Amino acid sequence: MLVGLLKLIKQYIFRRELDLHQVYGGKESWALVTGGSDGIGFQYCIDLAKRGFNICIVSRNAEKIDLKIQELKQILGDQASSLKFRSVVADFSKMSQISQYQELATKVQDIDVGMLILNAGTAVFGKFQNLTDQEVEELVNLNAIHNVYLFKVFVDKLYLRQKRSAVVLLSSALGLSPVPGIAVYSASKAFLRHIGIGVGKEVRDKIDIQTFVCGQVNTSLNPGQASGLKTTAVMSVKNSLRDIGQDLATAGPIQHVLQGWIVKNLSFGVDKIMLKAAEKKSIEISAKKIQ
Ligand SMILES: NC(=O)c1ccc[n+]([C@@H]2O[C@H](COP(=O)([O-])OP(=O)(O)OC[C@H]3O[C@@H](n4cnc5c(N)ncnc54)[C@H](OP(=O)(O)O)[C@@H]3O)[C@@H](O)[C@H]2O)c1
Repeated sequence: MLVGLLKLIKQYIFRRELDLHQVYGGKESWALVTGGSDGIGFQYCIDLAKRGFNICIVSRNAEKIDLKIQELKQILGDQASSLKFRSVVADFSKMSQISQYQELATKVQDIDVGMLILNAGTAVFGKFQNLTDQEVEELVNLNAIHNVYLFKVFVDKLYLRQKRSAVVLLSSALGLSPVPGIAVYSASKAFLRHIGIGVGKEVRDKIDIQTFVCGQVNTSLNPGQASGLKTTAVMSVKNSLRDIGQDLATAGPIQHVLQGWIVKNLSFGVDKIMLKAAEKKSIEISAKKIQ
């Protein structure tokens, strides 16, 4: 208990972010951000561009990425002219084989990726039985397969760079315990945590993997005011960046340490809330089908 408390004080009061560009970047280094066109991923793009990384966004919609790159340039102001931006279109929910990820990687084989942010993801509420086959396949492909397969096709290149490399895997507090009503999401995020921490220990001499056990963040995936346990993408990413290269896993903002504790230790309450939400969602979907 005391050791845990001292660790938290060190992390949240005394720790300073590494000079990420110095550690992971070079003259022409890139941060590749999956799902960088919105929410938490877009915030990584802003923050890593500010630290001097060129930005490559990978998501489904070319026009949306272009608009976000324009927005990013506006945010960066004069600094934007010294950086490069690139978009790659991919729908991870439809990709289930490593060969498809190798093909995707050829589109960025000419750039030096120093930071790989494996962030794209989504959630679908509903009891497992009520999800369609397609929903289950797409959830697994997007939330578990994409992160691991894309990392797999990058791992040798990242390992062989002269500088260290960093990888962020966007897990979730909902992966800390099996959660009904959103079980596929919960399981996929647990999978990411296991693989992130396990492989993180294997490659730590050259690659810093951060498993981000993220709590609630106000984004289009989880709309509603940020307050209490729900934070903003700005807070969330700021805390993730502070811990890269320092811990194999982080909860991000301090309130998400508490959120993780609740999911792990008060699962009876969490189960009730999530099952109710899933039930409500199923009723809404059935009502829509009838209309
Ligand atoms: N928000 C939270 O409370 C919360 C909590 C814990 C963990 N997380 C995790 O954080 C990550 C980001 O979530 P967010 O809240 O920022 O979500 P968001 O605002 O909905 O953004 C999701 C991003 O992923 C992209 N994306 C979605 N489906 C995709 C697909 N099939 N193929 C490629 N790209 C796809 C989206 O772009 P397009 O739609 O244009 O393709 C968008 O850029 C997710 O992994 C999520 O599970 C979020």
